[in-house]
Amino acid sequence: MKITIIGTGYVGLVTGVGLSELGHTVYCVDTDEEKIKLLEHGKEPFFEPDLGRLLKKNIKAKRLFFTKSLKDVLNKTSFVFICVGTPQKRNGSADLSYLFEAAEQIKKLSIGGKIIIIKSTVPVATGDKMESILNESNNAHFEVASCPEFLREGRAIYDFFNPDRIVVGSKKYSLCLRILNLFAKIKTHKISVSRETAELIKYASNAYLAAKISFINEIGNICEHVGANVDDVANGMGLDKRINPHFLKAGIGYGGSCFPKDVKALKYLSSDGGYNFRLLRAVIEVNNKQRKLFFNKIKNHFGDLRNKKVALLGLSFKDNTDDIRESAAIDIANNLIKHGAKLYCHDPRAMENAKKVLKKKVEYSACAYDIMDGAEALVIATEWPQFSALDWKRIKKLMKYPIIFDGKNILDKQLLIRLGFKIINMGK
Ligand code: UGA
Repeated sequence: MKITIIGTGYVGLVTGVGLSELGHTVYCVDTDEEKIKLLEHGKEPFFEPDLGRLLKKNIKAKRLFFTKSLKDVLNKTSFVFICVGTPQKRNGSADLSYLFEAAEQIKKLSIGGKIIIIKSTVPVATGDKMESILNESNNAHFEVASCPEFLREGRAIYDFFNPDRIVVGSKKYSLCLRILNLFAKIKTHKISVSRETAELIKYASNAYLAAKISFINEIGNICEHVGANVDDVANGMGLDKRINPHFLKAGIGYGGSCFPKDVKALKYLSSDGGYNFRLLRAVIEVNNKQRKLFFNKIKNHFGDLRNKKVALLGLSFKDNTDDIRESAAIDIANNLIKHGAKLYCHDPRAMENAKKVLKKKVEYSACAYDIMDGAEALVIATEWPQFSALDWKRIKKLMKYPIIFDGKNILDKQLLIRLGFKIINMGK
């Protein structure tokens, strides 16, 4: 099949690369000229495992193309995936201006006969609005469907080919089947639902996962009072198949470009409809509090943070990505700086992005050991697996005081205690 993808962010690019790998001919469109030039040369604009390899492979196979001009490609294709950003507005609602702009462009350049598939995360009933924009004139006819994405950054290529489910929402069952057929080579649960249902499945899934994280963080906070260990509690809970072990990792709360935005958007959607979604309010409140609780542990340890040399491992919002959007690690870094600490940071991928927001207020090093030299404390703020594999004997010798604040509970506490470290965790 021939497919247009509008928007080459995480969702658009991974979807485009994935669909071309499945054998379709894919044209990816973006207004960012620099990005298009980069992509045409097979260079990915952000770090995502395996993305670069598949990008180059499918460009070479002439199944994957990049362009700034929607006009040049739109009428060659019958399926159009909309993958533009839906950032958060001040009031928490989703900003749909890029989406509607895309609809206006499509309307201007084509008289219809196309299947428009919304992949961006959008509030319920956005499909209806898209449809009325696209079919405003009498002779135009566009079909609009929703196909929410469930990719995780850092594992997005894996998730594309191994999804737990593919959801398509449309008014017509036959249209759902045509869209699901694009993913025929992927064996998984495929469900066809109404458009509104598909749109809500996306928000409900993200909100539920965020709630799971806030729940385990609350349990972790209780653990600290009663002398229990949150990792063991989560393990004991997760063995119950009805609960499952995923998204039960306590720490400094969730970040990223999705959960914070989507939970707030669902809360807004509910209150806009006159419904008070009490649980979501609590999910957000707990998440905001969690990183503050962690920072207070560091602050209370020092009393006065001024001129204290602190090493910070991790800046991205989670492992395997260079993305720092809504990263708890960045918040903690900013707080440490604000309180006068001398901060030395390392992250395997996110330092370039972090420099744009933290500027020169901190020192960066490509070597994790360099930042430990003379450090009076070490803070772990991202769950990069390589951090736990560091040479802790060497670090013990480098640090001035061997105290670690492990905000993600990733280190082997017993081993480090044996080496002479003091470890402060979340929920232990
Ligand atoms: C999330 C969802 O997992 C995807 O299914 C969804 O497609 C995506 O949002 C989206 O809407 O686009 P993502 O934000 O990439 O994916 O990352 P997650 O792996 O879900 O992690 C989100 C945050 O929760 C991270 O800050 C992570 O550190 C934190 N987290 C995750 C925890 O604190 N504890 C956990 O047990 C799991």
